[in-house]
Amino acid sequence: MMDRFEITGGSPLNGAVDCAGSKNGALPLMAASLLAEGVTVLRNAPNLQDVNMMAMVLRVIGADVHLSGSEMTIDCTHCNFWEAPYELVRKMRASFYVLGPLAARFKKAKVSLPGGCNLGPRPVDLHLKALAKLGANIELDSGYVYVDAGNLQGARIDLEIPSVGATGNILMAAVAAEGKTTIHNAACEPEIQQLVHFLNKMGANIKGAGTQALEITGPSKLKPVAWEVDPDRIEAATLLLAGAITKGTVTVDKCRADHLGLFIEKLREAGAEITVTDDSIKLDASQGRLRGVDIKTNVYPGFPTDIQPMWTALMTICEGDSIITDTIYPERFNHIPELTRLGARISKDLNTAHVKGVEKLKGASVMCSDIRAAAAVTLGALAAEGNSHALRIYHLDRGYQKFEEKIAKLGGNIRRVRE
Ligand code: EPU
Repeated sequence: MMDRFEITGGSPLNGAVDCAGSKNGALPLMAASLLAEGVTVLRNAPNLQDVNMMAMVLRVIGADVHLSGSEMTIDCTHCNFWEAPYELVRKMRASFYVLGPLAARFKKAKVSLPGGCNLGPRPVDLHLKALAKLGANIELDSGYVYVDAGNLQGARIDLEIPSVGATGNILMAAVAAEGKTTIHNAACEPEIQQLVHFLNKMGANIKGAGTQALEITGPSKLKPVAWEVDPDRIEAATLLLAGAITKGTVTVDKCRADHLGLFIEKLREAGAEITVTDDSIKLDASQGRLRGVDIKTNVYPGFPTDIQPMWTALMTICEGDSIITDTIYPERFNHIPELTRLGARISKDLNTAHVKGVEKLKGASVMCSDIRAAAAVTLGALAAEGNSHALRIYHLDRGYQKFEEKIAKLGGNIRRVRE
């Protein structure tokens, strides 16, 4: 399916929309459900392509997965296969999250190596080194990782980079290891904090959620649980930026401002008025042009790399210059040539983009190349005067639930054209 958006931009978005459950939060929870026999229930699950893809991976393993509305049930009673095939993993790297759970449950796993990615090289060496530290025997053959985890033993793991995925995989394997495992320089993203709380509710013994040092004492026999998935902080940010870039007033309900601290600060610095409640964020950018503000992406609680492309889109029409540096993915700049097609003035130097704010963008055809680049060019098109076509929006559909419906609810002129 090569659907595209037709967008007539240039008018402010106004109103309120609900935030969906978190994609990057739900994916590891789905993988973790493999650790228990019985039925896991995930409420507030987002209905989007990557979640469907993970459901397919779990089904290959033998799970029974259903999504009805936003409630997902995953029955892992009859799982009997420990493989994640290339056909699925190549379409979504996050499939690699089943490695830890498969090693823990079946004591063996065969998972395809993810391969290349539009954000630049994204190796999985840290996942594999850590599993080896826990005593797993790991072999690479014909594009697959073979794990023999017959005797997992707790160990000290020092991560070179606080990788989200590696931290998740280690947590899910270490619950089955005998004794104490410590992860130093662990990721402390909200999605990892949630995974720790979820595993603990299942019966694991993990301390240190939200810090860079996690301690797992195993082995634990896990039972399935019911869980409410956290709101998607990146979707919330994207919708607020849609308000900002169109000089509108947008409220995102059912979200968590505490997961977006620095982002909200940066919006305020740019001149937007932000009002936060327990479960909503309101942005008012109707008072005139916002100012250019520099950002540098970093691990949590730094500025999220997953917001960088959409932030860049906003900066293109702000007053003055801004500098955007991505320290997580130095090559995550596929959106720049597309924003340039809309009239933006951006130059790139290594992992840094220099934006010179222009008064206006103008409609054009633009191409999507990954989830967040797709969101960035869609925002650019919403701000641009006249008509734009955003092609290959299947990239956007991987990570956003009914995005065009939410934008239309805010008054945006956007249509999906099915091809
Ligand atoms: N890295 C290594 N070796 C490893 C693992 C990671 O060198 O074994 C490097 C990566 O190449 C990257 C850095 O470490 O430069 C951080 O990668 P990390 O492992 O933290 O990322 P991830 O777990 O693969 C998740 C999100 C991404 C998000 C990153 C960073 C999921 C499913 N994906 O990826 O989300 O950008 O964390 O926050 O949670 C997106 O949603 O659009 C997206 C790409």
